[in-house]
Amino acid sequence: MRFSDRVFAITGAGSGIGESAAKKLAADGAHVVVADFDAANGERVVAEIADAGGTAAFVKVNVAEEADAVALVDFVVSTFGRLDGAINNAGVGQPVQRIHEMDTAAWDRIHSVDLRGVFLCMRAQLKQFLDSGGGTIVNTASGAGLKAAPGQGSYVAAKHGVIGLTKQAAIEYVTDNIRVNAVAPGLVATPQFRSYPKEDQEMYSAMQPGGRPAEPEEIANAMAWLLSDEASFVSGETLLIDAAQAQK
Ligand SMILES: NC(=O)c1ccc[n+]([C@@H]2O[C@H](COP(=O)([O-])OP(=O)(O)OC[C@H]3O[C@@H](n4cnc5c(N)ncnc54)[C@H](O)[C@@H]3O)[C@@H](O)[C@H]2O)c1
Repeated sequence: MRFSDRVFAITGAGSGIGESAAKKLAADGAHVVVADFDAANGERVVAEIADAGGTAAFVKVNVAEEADAVALVDFVVSTFGRLDGAINNAGVGQPVQRIHEMDTAAWDRIHSVDLRGVFLCMRAQLKQFLDSGGGTIVNTASGAGLKAAPGQGSYVAAKHGVIGLTKQAAIEYVTDNIRVNAVAPGLVATPQFRSYPKEDQEMYSAMQPGGRPAEPEEIANAMAWLLSDEASFVSGETLLIDAAQAQK
């Protein structure tokens, strides 16, 4: 199996895209750390991976907390002895609001998870990779990291930041055997998307060519490839996975 004995940490792995990625990597032979704020869902994902014959462990983290980001890496290394790769995927969506309607707390809530959380986790992972001789990171951005989206000012700014940070890390660590990439999904059928009011789901669905959101597995497959040795010369890239939505 392509990830036999590799160790990966995935934030936001209790649901949606992160859950699919955890299951995909475990099915390919990896030892997986499921990191999430939501313990019940995280433990459920670990149990489902074990039932399918895989190896996984859960750790409760709030990616917006510096100590939790450090503790995540410590947990991975103390549990499985090493860290080969990470997916910084935990994220929260924003209610549809124009910029003048947005209060500062709402702005901060999105940014603390979607951008600061990626920075804090990446920083801890990069320190570990520098010590261990290398590794690879995939950050979950969004199509909204490359263009505007109606009513998504805070989210759009945070996801543009994730793509900028990905490019920056890629050039800073390319000679340290560390690759850093991002995925930019279009619409994906996850609990985050389904949490939007029906009319907002319909508005965003209408923007998606073909009229269907991606299944989480369609994003997880690309994440797995970016983590794999098949992508050994790919770094600083943002892989748009949106069935040509951005071309519309
Ligand atoms: N669903 C989409 O259409 C879509 C599109 C583009 C990008 N994304 C991005 O994909 C990523 C995953 O989203 P999803 O749709 O699978 O959402 P989801 O809500 O199904 O899963 C997100 C997971 O992150 C966890 N989480 C949230 N805040 C956290 C925190 N502070 N610390 C730790 N865990 C936390 C949640 O508990 C949840 O398990 C997010 O970064 C999101 O912005 C989603």
